[in-house]
Amino acid sequence: PIVRLEDYRPSDFHIEKVHLDISLHPTETRVISTITLLRNPAGNPSAPLALDGDELVLKSVKIEGEEVSPSDYEATPQSLVIRKFPERVFDLTIETALNPTANTKLMGLYRSNGIYCTQCEAEGFRRITYFLDRPDVMTVYTTRLEADRNDAPVLLGNGNPNERGDVPDSNRHYAIWHDPFPKPAYLFAVVGGNLDHVGKTFKTMSGRDVDIAVYVEKGKGDRADYALDALERSMRWDEQTFGREYDLEVFNVVAVSDFNMGAMENKGLNIFNDKYVLASSETATDGDYAGIESVIAHEYFHNWTGNRITCRDWFQLCLKEGLTVFRDQEFSADERSRPVCRISDIKTLRARQFPEDAGPLAHPVRPPQYSEINNFYTATVYEKGAELVRMLKTLIGADAFRKGMDIYFDSCDGTAATMEDFLGAFEQSSGKDLSHFAKWYGQAGTPHITVKGHYDATAKTYKLDFTQVTQPTPGQPSKEPLVIPVSLGLVTSKGDLPLDCSSVNENGVFVLDKASDSIVFSNVSEEPVPSVFRNFSAPVKVSLELDSKDLLTLLVHDSDPFNRWQAAQTIATRLLVRMVNGEDCKAEIEAFASSLLEFTNETAASDPAFTALVLTMPGESDIIQEIGSDIDPDAIFKSRTILKRILSSVLSPVLVPLYNSLANTGPYSPDAASAGKRSLRNLLLDLIACNNSAEGEKLAQAQIQSATNMTEHFAALSVLSHIPGNARENAFTEFGKRYSNEPLVLDKWFALQAVIPEESVLGRIERLTQNPAYAISNPNRVRAVYGAFAMSNLTQFNRADGKGYDLLADLAIKLDKINPQITARLLTAFGSWRRMNGVRQAHAEAALKRIAAQPDLSRDTSDIVQRSLA
Ligand code: ARG
Ligand code: ZN
Repeated sequence: PIVRLEDYRPSDFHIEKVHLDISLHPTETRVISTITLLRNPAGNPSAPLALDGDELVLKSVKIEGEEVSPSDYEATPQSLVIRKFPERVFDLTIETALNPTANTKLMGLYRSNGIYCTQCEAEGFRRITYFLDRPDVMTVYTTRLEADRNDAPVLLGNGNPNERGDVPDSNRHYAIWHDPFPKPAYLFAVVGGNLDHVGKTFKTMSGRDVDIAVYVEKGKGDRADYALDALERSMRWDEQTFGREYDLEVFNVVAVSDFNMGAMENKGLNIFNDKYVLASSETATDGDYAGIESVIAHEYFHNWTGNRITCRDWFQLCLKEGLTVFRDQEFSADERSRPVCRISDIKTLRARQFPEDAGPLAHPVRPPQYSEINNFYTATVYEKGAELVRMLKTLIGADAFRKGMDIYFDSCDGTAATMEDFLGAFEQSSGKDLSHFAKWYGQAGTPHITVKGHYDATAKTYKLDFTQVTQPTPGQPSKEPLVIPVSLGLVTSKGDLPLDCSSVNENGVFVLDKASDSIVFSNVSEEPVPSVFRNFSAPVKVSLELDSKDLLTLLVHDSDPFNRWQAAQTIATRLLVRMVNGEDCKAEIEAFASSLLEFTNETAASDPAFTALVLTMPGESDIIQEIGSDIDPDAIFKSRTILKRILSSVLSPVLVPLYNSLANTGPYSPDAASAGKRSLRNLLLDLIACNNSAEGEKLAQAQIQSATNMTEHFAALSVLSHIPGNARENAFTEFGKRYSNEPLVLDKWFALQAVIPEESVLGRIERLTQNPAYAISNPNRVRAVYGAFAMSNLTQFNRADGKGYDLLADLAIKLDKINPQITARLLTAFGSWRRMNGVRQAHAEAALKRIAAQPDLSRDTSDIVQRSLA
């Protein structure tokens, strides 16, 4: 069944409050839910009461305490329909029986490594009890949680803790939690288990004390400090930046080891994939620390953007996700280096969202329809959604943006809102009509902007011509021009020229809102190089014919760090595309590399992190997007290897000395400045190995020996992983042994081996899945092996013999019976199959069709497969 935005109708019933009594047991958990119901005057006055369920086992139904006879309701595992009930407020009591141990979908109530936990977004609450499981049905929850005292000494719920105590004459105890804030069912959570925790008191800006804590598996308490610290900083940041204060007496975070996504913002009780909580210098890399900081912030920020103001329906998912990603990106930028964070975010968007927008799964930030909502937790909704919020801020200015956020918080607090409500707040604060801007939410595809510049030396004017085009996407054959903020500057070797142009505002922003437009700058004293889409002011592709000399001017002189970085990427991408087409570009690459050498000498000491970004050549996915179709993955891989080799040889005078000078002294600290130095040093090691594998191997082995932290250790192992031979295999074995009891560390090791671009990788993957630490039921393990292979091993996943596609299809067929959500997510790797050349397409299509032909395919998987084949 397809759900459509245009079919939205308010619920026929309100739920005034709900009381849940959950008695935890590994295989026979009992849930008694009492919901206080009344008709919604806005609903259909004669509608029966139809509650959602999913694989539920019903034990009994009572109305006002009286057993309802089975002839008076229709119950299936998927729904409970009651036609006879009082036409006034009444209590409905439903008892269901659950088996958390058997719940391998990890939706609803399940057991992860002995810990009871829940995941209810998007539609998991209906796997716990029959309910009006839709986000616009908000109610107040009281939860009584009971369990064996030894099995689950810790019992957590949403809201504030009320009473707790022992169940007389038994080995069981209970805890009662009450959440005074009305919320939709998807924000419900409980946790029970034998957990350690770290915690402290946070004093809010109005002076209230909040007990904040991070709960982890027994024995891992010492790895939760960084998450707790990130939480405290997030809470402070939201007060200072948006005036948002926390609202309950407690805030708990729980880490579990089996989790479908990154984390979940349940009210007052965030539940996390432990990958985004647990960190020690010995087990986590700088990247892991940054990920923890950003996910902790993201989930915390949902308390206002998601929980206090939630979504009317799942089409509005971007209302909370796009906005909350924008907020977590801003937090990280404030805590770390703003340019480095921005460039990383843009790289992520281009690597994940641009391909989505260009493939069969393309959809607008607010999709008009879905058959399985879990398949819309996408880079488009999240990352492009965040870019739309950022554009809005650019268009109306920082002050009107902040004022609009205040209006949004004031006017929508406690409601289930829509994108229109959100945009309305900014129309009010800015006085601008945002109806044209709003089209970004409904139109899929990445706009392609072509820019041309003309300098008139006699008139001293500079003219820029813009055109925008968006290619058709599934279901949207024709596209309209969008409102595109173009942040720009005119750069010379002396820096930025003043901008004399009435179409450009005081912040250097021109708004392109037609299919084509031109602007003219006056008093331009010398021919400048245009710097357009500074700071990536819109999520678009740009064509601007600048020669290498102009691009190098930007690399050195642009005041905008993003465009400095972009200039080097543009030169490298062009060279790579020409090499893929068979050109030998050696001389030009050497010239480019000499400029990078100069750049490195000038910036490495002052800004190592930025230097590392500039020296990182475009990824395979950047090249695929540039070429577009008829992709030869082997040619792309080969070209990249040659480019890096030449870069390495030109940089060779500085590589080793700089590598040595950046050696770590003193204890490990995950802060951005220290991480930046390590990132440059590790990049240098990689470059050294590109051109001199013997030297690279020697240095990498030494770095493994001397490493004082996982960042250094793992980076050296990565470098070794590209050098076939005994040293590599011994290092893998050694690492596997050393961390055999550290699943999160082994995930890195799994992934690193799964992306080795060699034919033998298929056998290696087979062996990895025999490792005792591997488990197909654990999403992190499956992602580490198969996700890394399918998403990041371009040449082997897209092998000409089709064996890469078959490997993923075989896994998908098996995994779909265990965890459909993870299966569907992995299969999005097939999203680029039509871009591959020759025989590859036929192999990919056959693999997809083989999956499609399986009986009893989940809705998640069949949705992705059908759309990919369409
Ligand atoms: N709201 C969560 C987040 O963005 C994501 C949870 C999605 N889970 C799911 N099963 N679709 O942090
Ligand atoms: Zn989120």
